[in-house]
Amino acid sequence: MVGQLGGVGQEPTEQDAVARRIHASIKDQIARGVYVPGARLPSTRALAAELGVSRTTVTAAYERLLAEGYLETRQGARAQVAPNLQGAEQDCQPRPAMPRAPVRLSGYGQRVAGLPSPPQPSRGQLIADFRYGDLSAGDFPTLAWKRALNAALLRRPDRLSYGDPCGTPELRAALQAYLWRARGLRCKADQVVVVNGSQQGLDLCGRLLLDPGDRAVIEDPCYQLARQSLGACGATLVPVEVDREGMRTDRLAAAGDARLAYVTPSHQYPLGGVMPVGRRQELLAWARRTGAYVIEDDYDGEYRYDIAPIQPLHALDTAEQVVYAGTVSKTLSPSLRLGYLVVPPALCSAFAAAKRLNDRHTPSLEQEALATLIADGTYERHIRRARRRNGQRRAALLASLSGKLGNRVSVVGTDAGLHVVAWFNDIPKQREAELIGKARAVGLGLYPVSPLYDPASLSARPDCAGLVMGYACLAEREIERGVQLLAAVLDNLPAAAGPQGTKT
Ligand SMILES: Cc1ncc(COP(=O)(O)O)c(C=O)c1O
Repeated sequence: MVGQLGGVGQEPTEQDAVARRIHASIKDQIARGVYVPGARLPSTRALAAELGVSRTTVTAAYERLLAEGYLETRQGARAQVAPNLQGAEQDCQPRPAMPRAPVRLSGYGQRVAGLPSPPQPSRGQLIADFRYGDLSAGDFPTLAWKRALNAALLRRPDRLSYGDPCGTPELRAALQAYLWRARGLRCKADQVVVVNGSQQGLDLCGRLLLDPGDRAVIEDPCYQLARQSLGACGATLVPVEVDREGMRTDRLAAAGDARLAYVTPSHQYPLGGVMPVGRRQELLAWARRTGAYVIEDDYDGEYRYDIAPIQPLHALDTAEQVVYAGTVSKTLSPSLRLGYLVVPPALCSAFAAAKRLNDRHTPSLEQEALATLIADGTYERHIRRARRRNGQRRAALLASLSGKLGNRVSVVGTDAGLHVVAWFNDIPKQREAELIGKARAVGLGLYPVSPLYDPASLSARPDCAGLVMGYACLAEREIERGVQLLAAVLDNLPAAAGPQGTKT
């Protein structure tokens, strides 16, 4: 009889007892939300194999759940929890309130748990989303990547083994040659450490070079994930003001005995300044004096428009104190999670050991595919194309901002990279969130500059509202439409009370 475990009047068998336990366990998992309404259960065959019981036993348990209305089945499909099942918890025995073990996070855990959660990406509904960091899927060299990945897959090695924590020899050699050709950076291939995006590189730097309480110099404003990553190591962060030429290196003397400095000298994030050679020398002289390491984040060095390429800081470093970080997140895709460090020779073994403990190594197939694209010239051809495309987007953005907003907006950081910062001269900084909220209501994704400043030194920033505007994922017509919407939002922004509430 369906739903009956052990017939009426019959002695329950061992099989009935097992089926009853399976029935109770699934019901409990439904009640606790492990299986939500609509979720598919394992097939009777798979569950029987997993539990080491006969399929008939599992079938008996499923049939009872079906008869009780907990499950539904369709011909040929796995049983699923009834989609309209409600209040399943009430059907179960109430669980006695158990005292929970206290949460005992490490110092690192507490610092990380206290970080603000990032804004969730909006999917689909926006007319124009100026979210920085996204690239256009249409720019990705899909065919070339697919070919390179397939070739890597078909090069069947005899064994599938773990690789070198610092990366495949082919990719390290290809990156070394690329960095010399494209950025004038000289290093040996064994100084290259392939990482899962430069974020992992920053995390490794923080953990290898800082102890809790050490001072770490950062830019103000600063790339938020760099600030959070170094802060998570327990470092005391020392924000140093940024102007149109990047970090004010004349302020470094006040940083005391810092153990490292994090900088973006080729294109300061977010304000876009390019650090002149005098400041670079001043920064390296400070590092030599104090023994601090310098992390050079060259996150978008491939994109420069009206200016000559600038050699990385690394090229001036004679004392081997610069750790250089690069990424394919701006050239290929942020979703690949491929980046690289060039580390001083004396630090190579520490980085190799830390990377091994972290994740053994970056996935090999993707490394092989990237090595092929770099070695056969596809990567640099792709970069030239991407630079051209992004140059067109940048031109569209600058023309729209100046055409539609005129002197209501001041745009900085336009010479390089994939974003600009737009300052809205008539909107006080206190109204940044309001501006962004009103824009979102009309389908426009805008992102504030304020969170990138150190909260304790907000005074260093202009008094007006500012936005970080990424353009690498937008078509020109979307950019134009977006700026048109922005102009309308600004026109309709109600005047605020108070002396700074000037209506634009
Ligand atoms: C300043 C800066 N550094 C690094 C990165 C890249 O990080 P990843 O290589 O981990 O994607 C970004 C990405 O937006 C960035 O803005």
